[in-house]
Amino acid sequence: MRKSIVAGNWKMNMSHVEALNLYKSLSALEESFPSNVEVLVAPPYVYLNELNNIGKGSRVKVIAQNCASNESGAYTGEVSASMLRSIGINSAIVGHSERRHVFGESIREVTEKVLMLLKQNMQVVFCVGEQLSERKGGSHFNVISDQLQSVLSLEPSLFEKIVVAYEPVWAIGTGETASPEQAQEMHSFIRSKLNEVYGKQSNQTRILYGGSVKPNNASEIFGKQDVDGGLVGGASLDASVFAEIIKAAG
Ligand code: PGA
Repeated sequence: MRKSIVAGNWKMNMSHVEALNLYKSLSALEESFPSNVEVLVAPPYVYLNELNNIGKGSRVKVIAQNCASNESGAYTGEVSASMLRSIGINSAIVGHSERRHVFGESIREVTEKVLMLLKQNMQVVFCVGEQLSERKGGSHFNVISDQLQSVLSLEPSLFEKIVVAYEPVWAIGTGETASPEQAQEMHSFIRSKLNEVYGKQSNQTRILYGGSVKPNNASEIFGKQDVDGGLVGGASLDASVFAEIIKAAG
């Protein structure tokens, strides 16, 4: 019913040549991707335009890792949603835990970014996730609930553009994953929160899992009822490894 998404977050990796090669190698494998899976990659800003142009007609869609919380003006180093849109990018990740915790983005700033993207009619891959201390202290559901506020007062027609990614911070880049049961428990909680506001529409929302997804754990996690694919960091930097994860979502 919900079409799965597997998205690769390249983070701050890859030289120009490496990025081109990775994109081309992945596109070359697209015949092997299940037809019921959408494939996205999020390269660094500087490669977006070129890869998006190369990828016209490819099943591997190019998205951004971030965007500015302001519309335009004196914000040195920032890239706005409208700039992304002007080069044909239709989707961006917002609220990734590295943005929240390394760069100190507040819930308010994340909300502003969501609104900037929606104003451009772009899709938002909206990330939430608790830290290890929060899970150990038992506040993980409250933390996720607070983070979800950024997308809980949208018009239903705008909410359609939201894809949620649950990424427990303790599982990102650590080699440790949430168990399939822990993932399902949180995904079902997230869907119930969305349901309180958006009703049946929330059954259409894709909720991705992220945090050390690898070929050997992907199918078990993706097999859970409320898990609609994954947001993949490290394992998306190798085309054949990432392709295995894509196949696991079919
Ligand atoms: P990881 O990263 O797969 O390397 O854990 C996931 C993410 O940060 O999106």
